[in-house]
Amino acid sequence: MAGLTMRGLHKRYGETHVLKGIDLEVDNGEYLVLVGPSGCGKSTLLRCLAGLEEISEGDLLIGERRVNDVLPGKRNVAMVFQSYALYPHLTVRQNMGFALKIAKRPTAEIDAAVDKVAEQLELVPLLDRLPGQLSGGQRQRVAMGRAIVRQPDVFLFDEPLSNLDASLRSHMRVELKRLHRRLETTIVHVTHDQVEALTLATRIMVLNLGVVQQVGPPRELFNRPANTFVAQFIGSPSMNILPAQGDEKGIVVDGVDGAIEHHARGPIELGVRPTDFEVTDDGVWSANVDVIERLGAEALLHLELGPHKISVMVNEPTPIEMGQTIRLQPRVLHAFNRDTGVRIPEPAGATS
Ligand SMILES: Nc1ncnc2c1ncn2[C@@H]1O[C@H](COP(=O)(O)OP(=O)(O)OP(=O)(O)O)[C@@H](O)[C@H]1O
Ligand SMILES: [Mg+2]
Repeated sequence: MAGLTMRGLHKRYGETHVLKGIDLEVDNGEYLVLVGPSGCGKSTLLRCLAGLEEISEGDLLIGERRVNDVLPGKRNVAMVFQSYALYPHLTVRQNMGFALKIAKRPTAEIDAAVDKVAEQLELVPLLDRLPGQLSGGQRQRVAMGRAIVRQPDVFLFDEPLSNLDASLRSHMRVELKRLHRRLETTIVHVTHDQVEALTLATRIMVLNLGVVQQVGPPRELFNRPANTFVAQFIGSPSMNILPAQGDEKGIVVDGVDGAIEHHARGPIELGVRPTDFEVTDDGVWSANVDVIERLGAEALLHLELGPHKISVMVNEPTPIEMGQTIRLQPRVLHAFNRDTGVRIPEPAGATS
């Protein structure tokens, strides 16, 4: 078992500057989830950690050892790819045991290790099949199983659950959490799935354009996003962001009547999550209901607030109908610098 240290890590492909100075310590046994928009460099970073890409600048340590020049096979990391690369001519059992066979472990030990993992991942009935005889989701679980069998110091997962249907995905999520608790191995996991990120991570790292935006426990990113990018990236549906002005009377959203008490001054961007509103007759804002999306237990209201469009989540059943005018009170406010997008800190002593 080992942690990871990245110091001023850069990756360039010719003119393309993909990773622009990543500094991060991942503690031994941490579950780091890496999120960010498509093309921001998530897979590239994992490939650098695995040794599949050369690091252009900076240092990478696994445990105490600098591994920039250490071959992938000598790093004791196991990677599960976005496109799970299984050996097509080997059975599921042989695929899963491959690394141990290369390491010349005794057959009985390999079989026992494979059986145990196959049991956990519900792969037992598939052990004698070839990858070509499996569904996408099954192949993905085999790729995951193959990594687990190796007992590496560090797991690198690149969207390992992306091909599974909703129920298998939640099953595998629980399996991953259990695996992490049992093995206490360091895991770096890339995902597009908010639920995966928020439920699995000990810390989440948000990457945009090759630059780290924020690293922290899921609750911290959710409750105190460092900038408007993180604010809108973490949490679904996305946070509403509105241009506003703050003075001693409070915050007034551009083009909207009603001031809300707040310490921010000058031009800001005001953030309110769709789940942080109350629909109430004495609410400060008046908004028109444009569209209602009924989602079962909740309904997502698409509203016109003056010149702005916002979304608000309410519990079902709701008497609200399209075309109606309602009054709203935002309950939790996030304020950001309008020019830089950086969070305006709460006054000392404030809690949220
Ligand atoms: N071998 C390469 N040569 C040149 N550019 C590359 C190479 N590999 C990746 N890139 C570029 O680096 C950037 C980051 O790619 P990467 O695959 O890391 O994105 P990602 O965050 O994993 O995206 P996704 O969420 O779509 O998987 C992209 O702009 C991509 O085009
Ligand atoms: Mg990727």
